[in-house]
Amino acid sequence: MILGIETSCDETGIALYSAKTRELFHALHSQTEMHNEYGGVVPELASRDHIRRVLPLIRKVLEEAGKSLRDIDAIAYTRGPGLAGALLAGASIAHGLAYALGKPAIAIHHLEAHLLSSLLAEPAPSFPFIALLVSGGHTQLLRADAVGRYQMLGETVDDAAGEAFDKAAKLLGLDYPGGPALAELALRGNATRFKLPRPMTKSGDLNFSFSGLKTAVLTLVKRETEDSRADIAAAFQEAVVDVLVAKSMAALLDSGLKHLVIAGGVAANSRLRERLRSAARAESVQVYFAPKEFCTDNGAMIAFAGALHLNAGLKTDDSNLSFAARPRWELGQI
Ligand code: KG4
Ligand code: ZN
Repeated sequence: MILGIETSCDETGIALYSAKTRELFHALHSQTEMHNEYGGVVPELASRDHIRRVLPLIRKVLEEAGKSLRDIDAIAYTRGPGLAGALLAGASIAHGLAYALGKPAIAIHHLEAHLLSSLLAEPAPSFPFIALLVSGGHTQLLRADAVGRYQMLGETVDDAAGEAFDKAAKLLGLDYPGGPALAELALRGNATRFKLPRPMTKSGDLNFSFSGLKTAVLTLVKRETEDSRADIAAAFQEAVVDVLVAKSMAALLDSGLKHLVIAGGVAANSRLRERLRSAARAESVQVYFAPKEFCTDNGAMIAFAGALHLNAGLKTDDSNLSFAARPRWELGQI
């Protein structure tokens, strides 16, 4: 039984995963309402709220599973990347519990957990595969050869895809986090009325850039009337999706791999899913998404990644009380 603790940003996620039975219990507290007032995440408030939420959520999950602390075999927690204070809240509780119970603590890379959460899908992908990680803080294409073996192929040179969604949504007057709200507004819009650029599709590499699209949205919002908002949202979403699809297909072609995995908050986007499915069909490749409830931040992906680390015989930290959060941490370095 692995306990998973996620506190890297504005969601406190706790889960209990049994590697043997694949049973999963999880609970989540989202701080979005608290941060909405400020139009974005306030790090200090985030850390303090994680401290308040972690233990009650652990109790809740144990109760639902009908288990006690003694049944836990290891404690997986997000070591990074993320907000330093928020990470420290989860890391210190994880290490405190691990020490008290005499069980190992497993430091998990947040993006690796997003990537591995796709293995919770039915059917699950098998290694090696190309992974497109699209979250609020990162946009990366990776080659995954095994648990713990990842090679970075390309990443954003400025804003992450989710960040671009959030910023464009803010310009359109939508609440934080704006990604899901913008996607919903786009459903009522015409994606072809406004022509937005497809940044870096001709760059010859697998990098991305999204900050220019945000500026294009700003120009349109200033120029057009209120009733054009849905069309602007649709044009923006289509541009981001076009780029993500084009680069993912290029990564598959370059590597010769036939499996593509999409993970991270933006993987919940319906238009992206639809477009990737049809591109994959046309290119005879398989595309896999993490289950929708595990696309955005959650504890289940941390517990699951912990179980896979144990299974793969990767190093755990059971020796002492010292630990460190890693707010900046490249996935290619683990
Ligand atoms: O992975 P995640 O929960 O947190 C990070 O690790 O960053 O991703 C959150 C991001 C936010 O930027 C949010 O707006 C975006 O994912 N997001 C979406 C959708 N759902 C969440 N973006 C577009 N469409 C969605 N349906
Ligand atoms: Zn995340």
